[in-house]
Amino acid sequence: MKQKKVLKAVFPVAGLGTRFLPATKSIPKEIMTLVDRPLIQYAIDEARAAGIKEFIFVTSRGKSALEDYFDVAPELESALRKAGKEQLLEVLKDTNMDSGAIAYIRQNRPQGLGHAVWCARRLIGNEPFAVLLPDDVIAAEKPCLQQMVEAYAETGGNMVAAMEVAPEKASSYGVLDIGNDMGSIVEAKGMV
Ligand code: UTP
Repeated sequence: MKQKKVLKAVFPVAGLGTRFLPATKSIPKEIMTLVDRPLIQYAIDEARAAGIKEFIFVTSRGKSALEDYFDVAPELESALRKAGKEQLLEVLKDTNMDSGAIAYIRQNRPQGLGHAVWCARRLIGNEPFAVLLPDDVIAAEKPCLQQMVEAYAETGGNMVAAMEVAPEKASSYGVLDIGNDMGSIVEAKGMV
């Protein structure tokens, strides 16, 4: 059966970020920088590479810096234009979202990741969708979500990106009980 294309992605960013305190007292974790860009930019780039067209953010109080990040910055842009800094203007372009391509929905209490995704249910409707956690940056030659979207087109169903961990570290992770091994795609029979 031909699968519907995955065009929507949910970014749950309403957590308290306690592991990064005190920085996250006033700065959303997703705005924190890794090398030269905020974490959220990696997630957006990955989603765009996978063909995502609608970006749904599940936010909470204190995340306005995140909303501003995706908006146009007229003063900054005109200063850069006047100074002839075309390269920097190009860099800024990747941070902008077209009007209507991005939606923010509120999770008014941090009731967990599953609840955060549930908060986006009306915007998702009955469409296939991706969930990206911006605090987990995955380095891959072909971006992880692109691999998943391609796999979904083949097999359909629910899918989760997984990695191998040493047995002695397994207790720190959610663990899959795997069945049929098809190489990069593995059937999950159960989950702990
Ligand atoms: P984490 O488990 O990393 O939780 O959530 P956290 O609150 O961000 O961080 P710590 O554990 O307190 O340090 C995984 C993802 O789910 C989101 C987070 O924002 C993060 O992107 N999340 C978590 C929500 O959107 N709502 C929640 O209630 C919990």
